[in-house]
Amino acid sequence: MSLNFGVKFQENENKLKLVVEEVEKSEMVYQLLKASNIMMINRMKYNDHGPIHAKIVANHALKMLEILFKKGVLPNIVKDYNLNFEDSKVVVFLASVLHDVGNAVQREQHPVLSAIMSKDEIRRILMKTYDEGEREIMLTEILHAIVSHEDLIPQTIEASIVKVADALDMEEGRARIPYLLGKMSIHQVSALAVKKVNIEEGTAKPVYVEIEMENPAGIFQIDELLLKRISSSLLSDKIELKVNIRGAGIFKII
Ligand SMILES: [Fe+2]
Repeated sequence: MSLNFGVKFQENENKLKLVVEEVEKSEMVYQLLKASNIMMINRMKYNDHGPIHAKIVANHALKMLEILFKKGVLPNIVKDYNLNFEDSKVVVFLASVLHDVGNAVQREQHPVLSAIMSKDEIRRILMKTYDEGEREIMLTEILHAIVSHEDLIPQTIEASIVKVADALDMEEGRARIPYLLGKMSIHQVSALAVKKVNIEEGTAKPVYVEIEMENPAGIFQIDELLLKRISSSLLSDKIELKVNIRGAGIFKII
């Protein structure tokens, strides 16, 4: 087994580093991510919900968190619990990695199932870096982000980031496997149209997202997935979104 999330650390982020190392060598995390794809790709011919999706979501989420913090948006673990910025990164990282593992059991209720299935492993991973009190706070914040990544409304910045980062994994690679398996739907066609997702520091709003697509079919991904996620999160006024359609130009969405 091998997991490598490719997380870039800032100086002195020893807690985050330890947590990432623990996750990368966790047989349980690896098997749960693998099982999610057995169910979602092999059986349901849906898109990637495995290790690569987890890695992309985690890195998109950490990047948004960095930008938001730099722009003065305080994560809730800092605001409500007096923990620090690095702890909010741990929340966002663990929730990003484990948000979809419930799909291994059942698609419709997967956010709650993901929380149930990963709770013990999260506690074990946090054991090395947090004392009991902090650990339980961290756990509840991570579970909140996991359960509210789809239909429920997140009540924290960290959970909102995970919810939006999940929908930002829309580059063509995510749809390619089911496409090769012969499944073709508007979800796959629109996902194949999206070539690149860029997340940068914004000027009009804290975060600037530009989505490059080969043809306008990619708009479906944005309407059906991304805009719904952004509007039902605490980031609805913090993200500027534009699409760059090859040969047609750049269009402002929000
Ligand atoms: Fe996901």
